[in-house]
Amino acid sequence: MPNNLLVDGPADGVRVFTLNRPDALNALNTELLGNLSRALDDAEADPDTRAVVITGSQKAFAAGADINEMAARDLVGILEDPRVAHWQRIDRFSKPIIAAVNGFALGGGCELAMHADILIAGENARFGQPEINLGIMPGAGGTQRLVRKVGESLAMHMALTGEPISATRALQAGLVSEICQPELTLERAVQIGQSIARKAPIAVRLTKESVRKANDMNLAEGLRFERHAFTVLAGTEDRQEGLDAFREKRKPRFTGR
Ligand code: HXC
Repeated sequence: MPNNLLVDGPADGVRVFTLNRPDALNALNTELLGNLSRALDDAEADPDTRAVVITGSQKAFAAGADINEMAARDLVGILEDPRVAHWQRIDRFSKPIIAAVNGFALGGGCELAMHADILIAGENARFGQPEINLGIMPGAGGTQRLVRKVGESLAMHMALTGEPISATRALQAGLVSEICQPELTLERAVQIGQSIARKAPIAVRLTKESVRKANDMNLAEGLRFERHAFTVLAGTEDRQEGLDAFREKRKPRFTGR
């Protein structure tokens, strides 16, 4: 694996992917996104990986799509951009993704963070969609996911002015679930991943799928989906184990069956 993406683990069920293009503040070029997409394929296929953490450096989670690469593409180049398939791969990942964000999460970097299911931010994090300053606009979900996460007014403010928001504002707005000291961000994200890794895998998978449906479906459809998923879990051995363990006052031993 080329070293613009460092892969650690799995350890205690968690794999950590570290974006590693320090000279370009982890700008997301095709090679890096391709490596991330293939690393997710491996993680998807590995039963010992129950959750994934994506992080960057203390200075930057990712400062956006690679502007130099983007500048070299004309309309047809953008239309046929191989990065689109990589973004779709990240979106399709069935296991929980936790983003541990320090420093700049701008443009495609903010969009990558928003592909995560849980966002943990260091106090120094800055989230923004500055594409408007380049005469372009967000293209990997920035206008769609941001509005669902922080509401229309703040999403418009960010996307139309390009002004970033602080970690505190991101917490208030619901973009991130926790803030911590920058040196503890990764550790905290891994801790959360390990906690998820101890749960019943099929229940985790269906919970992620069901929560995400809330963005795609109206309430009646979403409730129907949730009820079907809840019913499917009644056929799993882990459900029996979870209920038995509670009644026998012991810890459950989940097997993923
Ligand atoms: C390529 C980048 C980059 C980027 C930074 N660099 N961001 N290279 N693409 N997105 C490079 C710089 O050119 C510089 O390289 C090095 O990283 C360090 O950056 P500096 O600007 O010197 O650092 P600093 O002064 O600390 O400023 C940090 C910054 C600034 C505020 C984050 O770099 C910046 O504004 N970056 C661009 C942010 C942005 O506009 N992102 C949106 C991109 S468009 P050299 O070689 O000069 O040292 C996008 C579209 C997504 O994301 C669409 C998805 C489909």
